[in-house]
Amino acid sequence: MHFIFARLYKMSRLHDIHQAKAMASANVFCMNPRDKDISYADHSTLQRNILLKTMPILKDTIKDMLSKILPVTCIKVADLGCASGPNAFFPTYEIMDTIIRICQQSHCESPELQVFLNDLPYNDFNTVFRSVPDFKKDKGDLRGPCFIAGVPEEMIDGGRMLLSLTGRSIIDPTSNDCCFLWDLLTKSLIDLVDKGLVQESDVDSFNIPFYTPCKEEVMEIIEKEGSFNLHKMKVFEDNWDFEDNDHDTNFVFDKNKSGQNFAKTIRAGAEPMLASHFGEIIIDDLFTRYAYHVGEYLSREKTKYITIVVSMTMK
Ligand SMILES: C[S@@+](CC[C@H](N)C(=O)[O-])C[C@H]1O[C@@H](n2cnc3c(N)ncnc32)[C@H](O)[C@@H]1O
Repeated sequence: MHFIFARLYKMSRLHDIHQAKAMASANVFCMNPRDKDISYADHSTLQRNILLKTMPILKDTIKDMLSKILPVTCIKVADLGCASGPNAFFPTYEIMDTIIRICQQSHCESPELQVFLNDLPYNDFNTVFRSVPDFKKDKGDLRGPCFIAGVPEEMIDGGRMLLSLTGRSIIDPTSNDCCFLWDLLTKSLIDLVDKGLVQESDVDSFNIPFYTPCKEEVMEIIEKEGSFNLHKMKVFEDNWDFEDNDHDTNFVFDKNKSGQNFAKTIRAGAEPMLASHFGEIIIDDLFTRYAYHVGEYLSREKTKYITIVVSMTMK
């Protein structure tokens, strides 16, 4: 019996089809690869923190699924949007540990696990597959074979999907927690227009294919689409600066450091898109301005980064 467990990171609404097609052909939606100064692999701590918060829901989902299917010979896991770096294998580690623990408690043999790491074609799969030996070493004590591949897969009835996406906290689509990070990027681009480094017309023609739904919209889409039963939905809030953890009483706010941390997080994901439209040459200047504006903004207001997590079963 085969089951698929999946997560997906980004829902996009394409505001301008022509623009989007041109961008897609240039493969600009991928995260920055390892050979870039600000790679996703080295600058994805904010996403790592979000993954950590998602883990209890992931474990509950696996527990519930196993309670219905054990004993089972094979479980398939598809990570949709694995990117590269430490986060690419992190959920797989947690899924394996959870399955093995539950099987031991139930006195069942652990099933074979097939892991499908999925992302866009220009994702930095070289970095992902270079980590496979370490992964195998760390998990050498596993019972049963583990097969890791970078190919597409399909979901079957009863399969589980854990969906994690950037969202907004309220119904109002102009709320700061969904748009303001891009407003600050616009402000930084305008600074470069003022300096003569960027053409105003290029700023006007630039569209970011980014949409952050609120939980009501996500629920409506799941219901309308009709393939899944929704089990659980949770909304998490994180500070923009990954070092600024509300539980860390030792954290001292430094607007320059916070501005730089968040600028690197955004650059690791958005640089290919920006470089393809404005050229590589402006990227350092742009993110220097961005870090400044983010730092100034955070010293006045602490806007949260919102993540919506849903656990669903394929009907
Ligand atoms: C913000 S990153 C999240 C990466 C990783 N899962 C993590 O938690 O750090 C989103 C990933 O989704 C990928 N992605 C976006 N659209 C996709 C699509 N249509 N199919 C597959 N992957 C996609 C991007 O290339 C990127 O690697």
